[in-house]
Amino acid sequence: MSWFKAKQMTNESKDFSIDEHLEYPIENIATPVVTPLSERDAQVVWHPFTQHYTAPFSIPIVKGEGVFLWDENGKKYIDAIASWWVNLHGHAHPYLAEKITAQFLQLEQVIFAGFTHEPAVRLAERLLEVLPANQQRIFYTDNGSTAVEVALKMAIQYFHNQGFTEKNKIIALSNGYHGDTFGTMAVGAKSAFNAPFEPFLYETHYLTVTTKGQENTAIDQMKTLLAEGNIAAFIFEPLVQGAGGMVMYEPWVLNELISLAKQAGVITIADEIMTGFYRTGKFFATDYIDEKPDIFCLSKGLTGGAMALGATSCTAQIYEAFLSDDRRKTLFHSHSFTANPLACTAALASLDLLLLPETQERIRTIEAQHWRFKAQLEQRWADKLTDVRVCGTILAIEINMAEGTSYFSQIRDVIYQFFLEKGILVRPLGNIVYLLPPYCIDDDTLAYIYHCIEAFMSQH
Ligand SMILES: Cc1ncc(COP(=O)(O)O)c(C=O)c1O
Repeated sequence: MSWFKAKQMTNESKDFSIDEHLEYPIENIATPVVTPLSERDAQVVWHPFTQHYTAPFSIPIVKGEGVFLWDENGKKYIDAIASWWVNLHGHAHPYLAEKITAQFLQLEQVIFAGFTHEPAVRLAERLLEVLPANQQRIFYTDNGSTAVEVALKMAIQYFHNQGFTEKNKIIALSNGYHGDTFGTMAVGAKSAFNAPFEPFLYETHYLTVTTKGQENTAIDQMKTLLAEGNIAAFIFEPLVQGAGGMVMYEPWVLNELISLAKQAGVITIADEIMTGFYRTGKFFATDYIDEKPDIFCLSKGLTGGAMALGATSCTAQIYEAFLSDDRRKTLFHSHSFTANPLACTAALASLDLLLLPETQERIRTIEAQHWRFKAQLEQRWADKLTDVRVCGTILAIEINMAEGTSYFSQIRDVIYQFFLEKGILVRPLGNIVYLLPPYCIDDDTLAYIYHCIEAFMSQH
């Protein structure tokens, strides 16, 4: 019997979380670590978002299980950020492993132009079941940035195919992040991250929705830009701007902006790469609003964090604008691993797990715990905090810094190191420490993280 069937038959939610006793506190084990593997790594590997001149050796991870990771020295870490926001069900999940292994023995990869396969078709069917009814087609890629690239290309070529070649301007949200390729950098916030490439980034118009009380200004800006014309698309991270600092904004503003864009015939693109798959408490963050975007970008949690996969969905109207006897109207975009069967299988298995009642229950519980902890923090540490934010399973704590909020804040390294010592993997965005855990995290583990956050507050 498969792992999943056994699970459904017993329907015991307890088995879902880690059954071993949590040996808290785990802070006494020294944080590492120069091992032969980290030394070899330092000789040959260039890591992402890493200043190797000052960065310590990378920690060699040898095992993952549930919400935990283990390094070569046997030190255990709680993965409080779901390994860059991808892992939904915990590491090395047996059900995902079972499904991916079976698929590998059947078909591990096949070219996706001219050929298809069951996992890709089934996944498209299932995604369209959970996406809003206006979504009719799925285009696969292999990560978040490329899912966004495809969305932007769909929007611009949609107009180009109809002869509106000048309609190619993009509106985005200030402080946004949509990836690190050139096209996605161009619609993200301009910052030190992309400064060297600025001459190559096409012009984008930005709206600020995250300053409380200023929302109407963004709405007015949108009206002005739409009146000027030639806008092809409006792209946004719905409700939570992840890399921008887990900054949250009001659903009503987004609803209004989408509504205005749609009335003007502009294509609206929801980048749900971080927010999708119940991260904000609903399946998609845009489920909190009435207006339904024309395009959705998905990745990260799509496969439960097990495999690299991206997907861009769109309306029938957009898809049909590419149908023609004229082959130049084709969407000329592909990646070698488009719709990889293993990745699609992982996504299907992840959806099975996501929809289990016990997973849904955990999501609700995490959110409730976050709200309780937010109230406690605000009561005890008000003077040290600028803001505490919750949206679904995301908790963001902005520590009060004299110089204001910045990704390059000195406190970032202090926070990172403090929590590593405690056996907790967080990755602060400057002075903003956030939790975005796998949904299988249990109450004790969450309580331990909260306890360590308070310990940090008391010591700094
Ligand atoms: C909202 C959003 N869009 C796009 C991306 C880019 O995804 P990837 O890193 O898979 O290219 C990210 C990554 O953090 C993201 O948070």
